Amino acid sequence: MTRLAAGVILLLFALCGISAGRRDLVEDVIRLPSEMASFFHPDGVHDAKDEDSTGTKWAILLAGSSGYWNYRHQADICHAYQLLRKGGLREENIVVFMYDDIAYNEENPRPGVIINNPHGEDVYKGVPKDYTGEDVTVNNFFAAILGNKTALTGGSGKVVDSGPNDHIFIYYSDHGGPGVLGMPTNPYLYADDLIDVLKKKHASGSYKSLVFYLEACESGSIFEGLLPEGLNIYATTASNAVESSWGTYCPGEYPSPPPEYDTCLGDLYSVAWMEDSDMHNLRTETLHQQYQLVKRRTASDNSVYGSHVMQYGDIGLSKNDLFRYMGTNPANDNYTFVEENTLRLPSKAVNQRDADLIHFWQKYRKAPDGSARKIEAQKQFVEAMSHRMHIDHSIKLVGKLLFGIEKASEVLDTVRPAGQPLVDDWACLRTLVRTFERRCGSLSQYGMKHMRSIANLCNAGIGEEQMAEASGQACLSFPSGPWSSLDKGFAA
Ligand SMILES: *[C@@H]1O[C@H](CO)[C@@H](O)[C@H](O)[C@H]1NC(C)=O
Ligand SMILES: *[C@@H]1O[C@H](CO)[C@@H](O)[C@H](O)[C@H]1NC(C)=O
Repeated sequence: MTRLAAGVILLLFALCGISAGRRDLVEDVIRLPSEMASFFHPDGVHDAKDEDSTGTKWAILLAGSSGYWNYRHQADICHAYQLLRKGGLREENIVVFMYDDIAYNEENPRPGVIINNPHGEDVYKGVPKDYTGEDVTVNNFFAAILGNKTALTGGSGKVVDSGPNDHIFIYYSDHGGPGVLGMPTNPYLYADDLIDVLKKKHASGSYKSLVFYLEACESGSIFEGLLPEGLNIYATTASNAVESSWGTYCPGEYPSPPPEYDTCLGDLYSVAWMEDSDMHNLRTETLHQQYQLVKRRTASDNSVYGSHVMQYGDIGLSKNDLFRYMGTNPANDNYTFVEENTLRLPSKAVNQRDADLIHFWQKYRKAPDGSARKIEAQKQFVEAMSHRMHIDHSIKLVGKLLFGIEKASEVLDTVRPAGQPLVDDWACLRTLVRTFERRCGSLSQYGMKHMRSIANLCNAGIGEEQMAEASGQACLSFPSGPWSSLDKGFAA
């Protein structure tokens, strides 16, 4: 690693010329007062508080899933925590939401350890358990953003108690669907609620700027046509409003996890930004530079294994350096941003929605013939598959019952032009989702992909009664597996 870093520094000098190198050194000297702080922290963590010039740095990190087959989301979040701590943020300023069922999961080959890269170190150690298990909720997430302690239920009580000069970084990694993000608890998060909370936070005058990094399928739909300019918020998303995002470091792909891992270790967009931030002096890299680099890596040369990273909100903020939100690791002081770097690994990836199947399949494949484990894996695989087939079929049938065989797919598959939100009447969307789930079972993480079809029903004027009738006819029963359980998904 040291040799690699040294090599890249040499390359950097070769590319930029000695004068550019000198300029960096001069800037380092000018910034001496803030650097001085590192002398007073024997562990090498320097103080990113620096109230006078840049305000306090705050962060909220949220993994929205549970289950070992979703290993990667919590691995992403733990990695982000380590990155921010090395950057100099304080534990008291980083609020972590994770279900926390991975490190000591019976499937985890390294008990107590979580990795986010095939060669990565443990990222679990030291991560605070602010909101875990059933406390990972939409309500607590919103309360943490707004800094409203009285609105919390459970958890450590840590919230973003920010002031007008502060900077806030929010990073969310999970499954999603058009207009929604997953949570390990019920209900899931709707885009319009999130936007309202961000507007409220802005109205309270308690931040200077806010950066939101979002990994999820169809994550563009969370901000598309919804996040206005003028809130001092800059968001980037793993995918546009109509495509999947991708897991990476998955079994059977390249690069693959160590052989004892039957699950994906990370997500493509997430590891792209973190592995970039991990190695650079973040005073010399802007949000825009990182966006460009992450966009290229996540597109995977426009192969089928990739998505389109998008940006929303106040794009002008992306001229800010990353240091303002993430701090910087003093060990990277000499490693400034280079346009093309070693991050562009050849990589295959797995559609987020298929990562659970990969896990069950690997588990099945490796288990000894006739073992209880093999039977369990087979059951899990079949349950996941029957849930998918049931949901896909039911949505299609509801469409046909409402619009006729000819017109149904036209209505269900409509995509509104870029810049327009998924739906105008979000209350209608909520109602139709609940109505469908009561009769057909939970959409659960896979079924979130059908949110656009349900939104299109609202846009076409379908109301609760029509939906109830069509769902009732389409679903005389639903599979008894855990995926369909009404404890999952949206139904309240
Ligand atoms: C905080 O949350 C409580 C409970 O939901 C609510 O009554 C109160 O108005 C909130 N305070 C602010 C400042 O938004
Ligand atoms: C960066 O380079 C300077 C000058 O070569 C050197 O003194 C310093 O130790 C280096 N810092 C790190 C963190 O490697």
